[in-house]
Amino acid sequence: MTAPAPTKRLYIKTYGCQMNVYDSERMAEILRPLGYGPTDTIEAADLVVLNTCHIRQRATEKVYSELGRIKRVKARAAEGGGEMIVAVAGCVAQAEGAEIMRRQGAVDLVIGPQSYHRLPELIAKIHRASGERLAADFEPRAKFDALPSSREAAGVTAFLTVQEGCDKFCTFCVVPYTRGAEFSRPSADIEAEAGSLVAGGVREITLLGQNVNAYQCDLGGGLAALIRRLARIPGLRRIRYTTSHPRDMDEALIAAHGEVDALMPYLHLPVQSGADTVLKAMNRDHTARGYLRTIEAVRAARPDIAISGDFIVGFPGERDADFEETLALVREIGYASAFSFKYSRRPGTPAAAMGAQVDEAVKDERLRRLHGLLDAQQRAFNAGLLGATVDVLFEKSGRHPGQVIGRSPYLQAVHCEGPVALIGRIVPVTIASAGANSLAGHRILEAA
Ligand code: 5AD
Ligand code: SF4
Repeated sequence: MTAPAPTKRLYIKTYGCQMNVYDSERMAEILRPLGYGPTDTIEAADLVVLNTCHIRQRATEKVYSELGRIKRVKARAAEGGGEMIVAVAGCVAQAEGAEIMRRQGAVDLVIGPQSYHRLPELIAKIHRASGERLAADFEPRAKFDALPSSREAAGVTAFLTVQEGCDKFCTFCVVPYTRGAEFSRPSADIEAEAGSLVAGGVREITLLGQNVNAYQCDLGGGLAALIRRLARIPGLRRIRYTTSHPRDMDEALIAAHGEVDALMPYLHLPVQSGADTVLKAMNRDHTARGYLRTIEAVRAARPDIAISGDFIVGFPGERDADFEETLALVREIGYASAFSFKYSRRPGTPAAAMGAQVDEAVKDERLRRLHGLLDAQQRAFNAGLLGATVDVLFEKSGRHPGQVIGRSPYLQAVHCEGPVALIGRIVPVTIASAGANSLAGHRILEAA
């Protein structure tokens, strides 16, 4: 794996102990993917890090006097149109972060030793705030950051992008760097687009965003507010949304699942891992318990809801015991469907530079076991509908003449005998057979 050629200069000054020397090397390493290469002089630097020591008062005072000098260099750079970011790391940062920011205005960032894994995120945010994009050499079409186009050929169902970008900075993921900051589309645009889709025959809209539940409605409220507005569009029968982050699963959205008829009982809520140590290294900002509590709340609002998720196996440092915790969490939740991936190193992300990368063979074995469990849960969820009658929105003709295919509220494909005239209509179907990936059934009566 190669880092991009350096386009920016990093100057790190290390005070104190051997630990700090080691940490400075690590900081240089995790900043390399953002395009930072080393320099020996402050004058040439785009980013200055003072990795400080707090052992003696004199050491702290040295930091302040160094910052005074840096402030002058930074001011000169600014006069010449250059930009310099100044960060204070290490024990002084830990002990008196707020004081440093107050006493020395030239400091952009204070970061304690527990948070070095977040350095790329924080630096990227500073660049973003000044409107600059990072020169990191990401693959042009990242495997995981593609959103389906919001302009599918008009059919019965359509995607509609409402939100883009991500501020979460999971350490394995390229999206925050490639897609930029979280942005919510104006609600009037969304409503207009939804209206025209429905006028064109669309009956189901899936609201899209990399962090769709971080959506901020310009009329107030979050995604729930938008969903409630869209639910008023006559003829729009079903609303879905994807993909969500556990942290943004707020009470209003959970409540909407119990109250808005058009909002379908299906939630894709990635958890990635069931082990808190791994979640922390991933910078997920939630625990396994927290995720479980969120799912409990969603189920309290909408007991039949189908839960889906994403998982990564073999994240750097993931031990057997951590993986077992993922399996335990999966057993506790009971998924209707899920996606699982082997961790893959994405150039430019903090996790790519982490030690303790997991052996490919170990990843394969963990993925096989996780797949096995998730597959069994999906079959069980599908089989649980045998004999039940579910509303199916028919979308297209099937492979055999006289067959139509639609989806249940839980997003399962449902095959049924019937005329093409059913396409675009919601009809109750009694489920007669269930496989791993689809259901089949009979219409009992025709609804309007
Ligand atoms: N390696 C493996 N899986 C990844 N994902 C994102 N980045 C990586 C990566 N580097 C997965 C996550 C995410 C989904 C869209 O893709 O599970 O939720
Ligand atoms: Fe990537 Fe999703 Fe994490 Fe954002 S929340 S960094 S898009 S995995």
